[in-house]
Amino acid sequence: MNTKVWKVDKYVDNLENNPQVVDAAHFLQENEVVALPTETVYGLGGNAKSDVAVEKIFAAKGRPSDNPLIIHIADKHQLSAFVAEVPKNAERLMERFWPGPLTIIFKKRDGVLSEKATAGLESVAVRMPDHPVALALLKKCQLPIAAPSANSSGKPSPTNAQHVLDDLNGKIAGVLDGGSTGVGVESTVLDCTEEIPVILRPGGVTKEQLENVIGEVHLDAALIDEASKPKAPGMKYQHYAPNAPLYLVNGSTSFLQGLIEEKQNAGLRVGVLATEESVEDYQADVSVACGRRDELESVATKLYETLRAFNQEKVDVIFSETFSNTGVGHAIMNRLQKAAGNKMINE
Ligand code: TXA
Ligand code: MG
Repeated sequence: MNTKVWKVDKYVDNLENNPQVVDAAHFLQENEVVALPTETVYGLGGNAKSDVAVEKIFAAKGRPSDNPLIIHIADKHQLSAFVAEVPKNAERLMERFWPGPLTIIFKKRDGVLSEKATAGLESVAVRMPDHPVALALLKKCQLPIAAPSANSSGKPSPTNAQHVLDDLNGKIAGVLDGGSTGVGVESTVLDCTEEIPVILRPGGVTKEQLENVIGEVHLDAALIDEASKPKAPGMKYQHYAPNAPLYLVNGSTSFLQGLIEEKQNAGLRVGVLATEESVEDYQADVSVACGRRDELESVATKLYETLRAFNQEKVDVIFSETFSNTGVGHAIMNRLQKAAGNKMINE
């Protein structure tokens, strides 16, 4: 399949009638799959009502079929078609954070969405992305769009159109290239079917921000204790992994430098994921500054691009600094731990 690339300037007016967006919307209506920029990562969109379209999403990514997709909408009025009940706290969160990086899980109304999109569950995950190109496309095609991150299953999520092509060129109808995404890590997934909402996946909206709006919010047991089974099916898979083994290092820069030297002495090409504050302290073969430690949002923005860069550089092993588990640091550490398959070295 020839994958089309539609370049779109996200700052122009009237994006809904931009010829590139119109063309992409047409493909969605024909049940083809199209990658689109969101504020978090690129998504691989398809008509959420169509088994055919949803099957194409799973096939292109090589995604296990028991892992449900997030449904993307441009207007809250779309909810009532496939959501059975909107609790009061969810109402307040939508008011505050939509459009934005918050996915809410509701009880599902049966018979509208493809059962394959929700992996046969009785609940459905929904979000409204905060990106002008995504919103224009959603409005134009007039469909609820199922969209997982537009990477091959297991790889780091794509934060620009080239990442999408690196994984999916030839496997999807097209990609709307709206430039680099901003947040860099995926949306927070919050289960609002429980009395006290539960974070299933930490992301762009922090626990603190949620609690400021609705009070107490819980964390899924799997986010606290590795041995527990996660409620979001996708959280049980290894994810975001670069090609080389990745180790998270809890310790001083000199301790980490010692680990680098040990591997170099064994003849390996070593990468280090550091920050602007510390990158000069390391003599590795490939040292990458992944944002600034004193501004964790910048680390989130660059995280997946950095993990992908190590693949280009063909390193044999990667060491990464660790981050505090507060604010967006929670999402960063969650993704790093998954990328590392939980390999951690303590000083
Ligand atoms: O930022 C994002 O959320 C991006 C962009 C493209 O919107 N999308 C994204 O989708 O990250 P994906 O498929 O990579 O991750 C969706 C996560 C998975 O862990 C999945 O298991 C979980 O949400 N999920 C979806 N529906 C669910 C449900 N009904 N109950 C529990 N977890 C659900
Ligand atoms: Mg994903």
